[in-house]
Order: sequence, then C-alpha cells, then structure tokens
Amino acid sequence: MLLRPAQSVARRVRGLLKISRATATRGRLALGIKPMSYRWGEDRGFPIHRYYLDCFLDQYARDIRGHCLEFQDPAYVLHFGGAAVTKLDVIHIDDSNPRATLVADLTKPNEIPAGLFDCIVCTHVLHMVYELGKIVAELHRILKPGGVLLVAVPCVSMWEPREHELWRFTPEGLELVLANAFGASNVTVHAFGNSLTAAGEIRGLVVEEFTEEEVRYRDEHFPVEVCARALKASS
Ligand SMILES: C[S@@+](CC[C@H](N)C(=O)[O-])C[C@H]1O[C@@H](n2cnc3c(N)ncnc32)[C@H](O)[C@@H]1O
Repeated sequence: MLLRPAQSVARRVRGLLKISRATATRGRLALGIKPMSYRWGEDRGFPIHRYYLDCFLDQYARDIRGHCLEFQDPAYVLHFGGAAVTKLDVIHIDDSNPRATLVADLTKPNEIPAGLFDCIVCTHVLHMVYELGKIVAELHRILKPGGVLLVAVPCVSMWEPREHELWRFTPEGLELVLANAFGASNVTVHAFGNSLTAAGEIRGLVVEEFTEEEVRYRDEHFPVEVCARALKASS
C-alpha cells in the first residue's frame, strides 16, 4: 500500500528514532561489519574470556598445589598456585616449545606415568583436540587419586582458522565429556557470560569497556567461557 506523504514522513521519523535508540544501546558493541579485533580483544585490552577464566581459577586456586601440569606455558599455575606448587611441568604436543618440560600427544600412547600429578590446568586445549574421549581419559590416568583437573574452553567466541580450533563447548557437552572418565558426581561445571559480553566477545571488545556488574552477570543462555573442575576419585 502506498503511504500518504504526511504518514510517510511520520513513519520515517519513527523509524529513525528507533535506529538512533538502537545505535545508542549498541554504541559500545561497535557498528560495522568487522569486529574491533581479530585477536579476541587481546590486542586492545583484557579479553573477556580470559577475565572469566581468571574468575574460575581464582575460585579453585586451592586445588593448584603439589605436582602440577599446565599446557604451553606455566602462567596460570604460577599465578594461582603460588607457594603451594612443589613441582611444575609444562606440556606441549611437539618439540617446538622451549618452555615445555614434557612433549607428548595425550591422545596417543606416551611415557607419562599414571598417577603423577596433583593438579592439571588445561585451559583452551580441548577445543583443539579431535579425539576428546582419548585425551580426557589420559588426563584422568595421569592424575593422582584425589587429584584435580581444571578445564576451560570457549563457547561463544571468534573462530581463528589458523589455530586449529575444532570445537566449541556448551556446559552440557563439557560435563558429558568429563563425566565419562571422572564420573558425573565428580564434575562441576561453571558457565560465565551473558548476552552483552557474548556479543562483546565476538565484536572484539574487552573487559575495560564494560562495568563490573555487566561482566559479572551470568545468563545461562549465553556462556562465553565454560569451565569445569573434575576430581579423580580416591581409590
Ligand atoms: C592454544 S594452546 C593453549 C594453551 C594455554 N594453556 C592457554 O590457556 O592459552 C594449546 C596447547 O594444547 C596443546 N595440545 C593440543 N593438542 C594436544 C594433545 N593432543 N596432546 C597434548 N597437548 C596438546 C598444544 O601443544 C598447546 O600447548
């Protein structure tokens, strides 16, 4: 139906008002097709998912003790474990990493003894592993009875094709994968994020661009980072 001129102008003004309200609301989410960052925000400030990861490790810092294992570099164990860590190994899948004290593919037979570690900090690893069941069974094998696995994986996030990222995890998916080896009653999953920070994460925004209230609000429908504590039962 053709609009009369006066009606048409009124509708256009109403439309513009709607657009400017939307623009104001989305101001910090940055307009335009491209995001503010193609590095998860790490080139702009503190990435949202790393903030959530810190919250999780802070909550379980008491588990990071004794003989610990971390992937790629020892930063989280050193920061959150502190003096409670008596020995620290760093694992890498190949010999390209000079910080690695262990080189092994945990989906294949390897020489790491069973029951070696009190704590394994496994952040941003599982989404790169095709044979998830195998690596989780292996993480369980190399933990001491009573030892703890702390896992963090992305849910809503940018995908970087050059980083060999295979998967994204929902809380239910991560719980199932871990429960298979550790038993459901030994797995506790935490999901961090909300619709605003999930949008921010994929737009390349960083923690500094949100209020603490906005970042800390949790909406189960929009997990940015999914984390879990899995306890190896004492036999
Ligand atoms: C992207 S890095 C993440 C490391 C770091 N912890 C972080 O939070 O960003 C992934 C690490 O997982 C290791 N990794 C990937 N697949 C593996 C496998 N099958 N066995 C052992 N390590 C593996 C890689 O060697 C690398 O050290």
